[in-house]
Amino acid sequence: MNQNNLKGIILAGGSGSRLAPLTNSLSKQLLPVYDKPMIYYPLSTLMLMGVKDILLITTSRDQSLFKNLLGTGENFGIKISYEVQEEPKGVPQAFLLAEKFIGNSKVVLILGDNIFYGHDLTNQLVNAASKDCDATIFAYRVQDPSRFGIINFNKDNIPTYIEEKPKASKSDFAITGIYIYKSNVVEYAKNLKPSERGELEITDLNNIYMKAKNLNVEILGRGIAWLDTGTFESLQDASFFIKTLEMRQGLKIGCPEEIAWRLNYIDDRKFGDISRKYIKSPYGNYLKKILKEKK
Ligand code: G1P
Repeated sequence: MNQNNLKGIILAGGSGSRLAPLTNSLSKQLLPVYDKPMIYYPLSTLMLMGVKDILLITTSRDQSLFKNLLGTGENFGIKISYEVQEEPKGVPQAFLLAEKFIGNSKVVLILGDNIFYGHDLTNQLVNAASKDCDATIFAYRVQDPSRFGIINFNKDNIPTYIEEKPKASKSDFAITGIYIYKSNVVEYAKNLKPSERGELEITDLNNIYMKAKNLNVEILGRGIAWLDTGTFESLQDASFFIKTLEMRQGLKIGCPEEIAWRLNYIDDRKFGDISRKYIKSPYGNYLKKILKEKK
């Protein structure tokens, strides 16, 4: 599949109540993860997949802040458009809000607080997106599965059971916050009923695909990091993780300007202009350094 046909959605709504008071006046997805706003990481994941048309769904309160930060996407050589989620009514609501945006395209949805990192991760995501299946989800082994949607599968990776945040999990595998669907996802999302907590559940949506034997499960192996930012501890741990790798290698993780430049979405001149904009920050020095290394 030509990745240009794959559209992307970043869901960055929600009240962030589990991180209050940090989130009392600022979106969770704008909080720092070490040296950059959290949203840079899922944005980078989509860009590395080759996605160039992205819809960013935020609360109405925070939309202008995201627009200030990311604009039209021009600095990253991509197109970013915006949509408001008035109330947090669950992950699948994204597909209802994005109906026009999706049209007939395949779509990848990533949650704005999910950080993925690892060697060969991009290839795995791109290969999964190119498969001709209606829905693909990504499972990852975790120590505390009850905090997530969980999945059981048989030895052929065929999913047998999925459940949202069970009290006692029958599986060690969580369903991560990146999902790929064909455009029929919009119709399925329209037929979902709110759960007991009053939200449309992504797990209910995936259950529909699973029952129709149309749910492809990819396992993200132990060489991949899926970081969670849902608690004070995990948010801090994510910052330390990024800091440790960046300090060791002298390379940045989740730097959308760098990705745009390396993928030739923006040229050296534009990249240089951006680096000058940030020149008082180590971020700008980094951009300047990698540009100079190339020349
Ligand atoms: C959501 C999904 C859950 C998934 C998780 C990944 O949970 O409902 O199935 O495992 O994202 O981050 P939430 O973060 O809304 O609690």
